[in-house]
Amino acid sequence: MIKWYEAIESAQNVKELEELRISVFGKKGVLAEQFAKMKSASNEEKGAIAKELNIHKAKLAQLLNETKEVLATKELEVAMKAEGIDVSLFSTKGTCGALHPVMETMDKIVEYFNSMNFAVHTGPMIEDDFHNFEALNLPKYHPARDMQDTFYFKDEMLLRTHTSPVQIRTMLDTKPPIRMIAPGAVFRRDYDLTHTPMFHQVEGLLVDVDGKVSFANLKYILEDFLKYMFGEVEVRFRPSFFPFTEPSAEVDISCIFCKGKGCRVCSKTGWLEVLGCGIVDPNVFKAVGYEDVSGYAFGLGVERFAMLIHHIGDLRSLFEGDVRLLEQFR
Ligand code: PHE
Repeated sequence: MIKWYEAIESAQNVKELEELRISVFGKKGVLAEQFAKMKSASNEEKGAIAKELNIHKAKLAQLLNETKEVLATKELEVAMKAEGIDVSLFSTKGTCGALHPVMETMDKIVEYFNSMNFAVHTGPMIEDDFHNFEALNLPKYHPARDMQDTFYFKDEMLLRTHTSPVQIRTMLDTKPPIRMIAPGAVFRRDYDLTHTPMFHQVEGLLVDVDGKVSFANLKYILEDFLKYMFGEVEVRFRPSFFPFTEPSAEVDISCIFCKGKGCRVCSKTGWLEVLGCGIVDPNVFKAVGYEDVSGYAFGLGVERFAMLIHHIGDLRSLFEGDVRLLEQFR
C-alpha cells in the first residue's frame, strides 16, 4: 500500500493524479482487489484486514484531495500566465476610438459659428428659476414650467431645460456687442423615439449696439449654416412663438431623404424642422439691464442634427453605448 502514497505525492499534474485515483479507487482498483482477497481469509482475520483497509481508504482519499488542490492551483496559475493579456503589447488590429456621433455633430456646428466669430460660452446645468425662465420672459404661469417638462430640485432650482439661460448669464457678465454660442446638455422629462431626458443644444445670440439687427441678418446666417451642415437644401422660416424672441420662427429644411417629395421621415410634408429662432424680445434685454441694443437668438437640438445626418431612427440608441452602433462612426 505504501507505494500508492508515494505515487500520489509525486504526481506531476491533475491528469496523472486522476489516473492514480482510478488505479486505487476504481472498480478494478487496488482497494477493490484487496477487499476481494479478504473473502478467502478466516473469520478472525477478516475484521482486522477490513479495519486496516478502511483506514488506508480514508487516508488515501484525503491525500488525493489535498494533492489535487495543490496541483490544480498550480495549473491555474500557469494557465493564467500563458493566457493573460499584455496591454502594453502593440496591437496589429486597427481599432482606434472615435468621437461619439453627437459630439462629432456638435463639433461641426461649433466649428461653423467659430468661423463666423461667435465665441463659445458655457453655463451651469443646475440652474435657477430666474436664469432658466424668469429673465427669458417666461412668466410664472407659462406651460414650459410645468412639472411635466422640468426636473425640479427644491428652492426653485432645476436642471436647465434649454441652453437659453447662458444667454442671460453672458449678457449679465459682459457689455454688448455679443456674438456667442452656448453648446451643452439640457434636461427634460421626456422619453420616446425622438426624446431622451438628457440631450444637447447649441444656443446662439448676437447683440449689437449700433444699427438694427434685422431678421434678414438672422435669415442669412442660418441659411448659410444649414447648407454647411446638410448640403444643398431649401430653407424655410415658419412663424412661431418663443417667449424670449419676437418675432419668432421655426426653421425647416427640405427633407434630405426624399428631396422634398414627402416620405415617412418628414411625415409626407417634404420638410424637416431643425431649429427655433427670432429677434430678442425687449423684455429679455430689460431683465439684464441692456438699453438701446438689438439682437437675434437661435437654438437647436444636436441629437436631431446627428440623427438626420447619420440616418438614425431611434434617438435612444445614441445613449445606449452599444459598440456595434458606435463603431460604425469610426
Ligand atoms: N430655447 C428654445 C428651445 O429650447 C430654442 C430657442 C432658442 C428658440 C433661442 C429661439 C431662440 O426650444
